[in-house]
Amino acid sequence: MMEITSAEFVISNTDIEKCPPPTKPEFAFIGRSNVGKSSLINMLTGRKDLAKTSSTPGKTQTINHFLINKNWYLVDLPGYGYASVSKETKGKWSDMIASYFEKRENLYCTFVLIDSRLDPQAIDMDFIHRLGAQGIPLALVLTKTDKIKQSELTRSRSKIEKRLLEQWEELPPLFVSSAEKKSGRSAILDFIDKAIQANPIK
Ligand code: GTP
Ligand code: MG
Repeated sequence: MMEITSAEFVISNTDIEKCPPPTKPEFAFIGRSNVGKSSLINMLTGRKDLAKTSSTPGKTQTINHFLINKNWYLVDLPGYGYASVSKETKGKWSDMIASYFEKRENLYCTFVLIDSRLDPQAIDMDFIHRLGAQGIPLALVLTKTDKIKQSELTRSRSKIEKRLLEQWEELPPLFVSSAEKKSGRSAILDFIDKAIQANPIK
């Protein structure tokens, strides 16, 4: 089990060129606005206020790098699909996110977060397929599982898997989590640990 010995905020910016040098393994969190990206980062690191969270969508609006154990990065990204911003702002966010995925050569894996309470949403499926087409390694995390019953979670999970298998031959790794109950933590941290060990940067 990987221990988190340190977690430090590094930089928040909208300019991909200002991200830290791509010399350490990096893991990003993306998903619809309000799905729980920032809360998951806090839960994984065991730091309550490391990433800023809010009950109103659209809280994270920049690319946020956190250095973990002096050795790898967690990245909190803005959400997509937030209805209440102007077309112009939406365009800027999606350009920023697209250039992040194009240019971050040290990206080991992107966790795409999906609200476990909802049926598969077109916006999530489209985003996942786009990342897949770009060859970006990804894993899925079903969030807010404290809000549903085990039976509903099972149903939700199989609906998503079924949708993915309509277009993919293989399913990406899938984790279930609750930031509230702190569940899913060790499985996700183990996955990160293994990914780093399998492909260490020399
Ligand atoms: P943006 O930055 O706006 O894109 O949102 P985000 O995806 O970072 O979501 P954030 O972590 O800010 O959480 C949004 C809301 O959902 C907050 O009110 C959180 O407390 C709540 N939340 C996040 N994760 C969980 C969870 O696992 N369980 C429950 N019950 N609430 C959660
Ligand atoms: Mg956020």
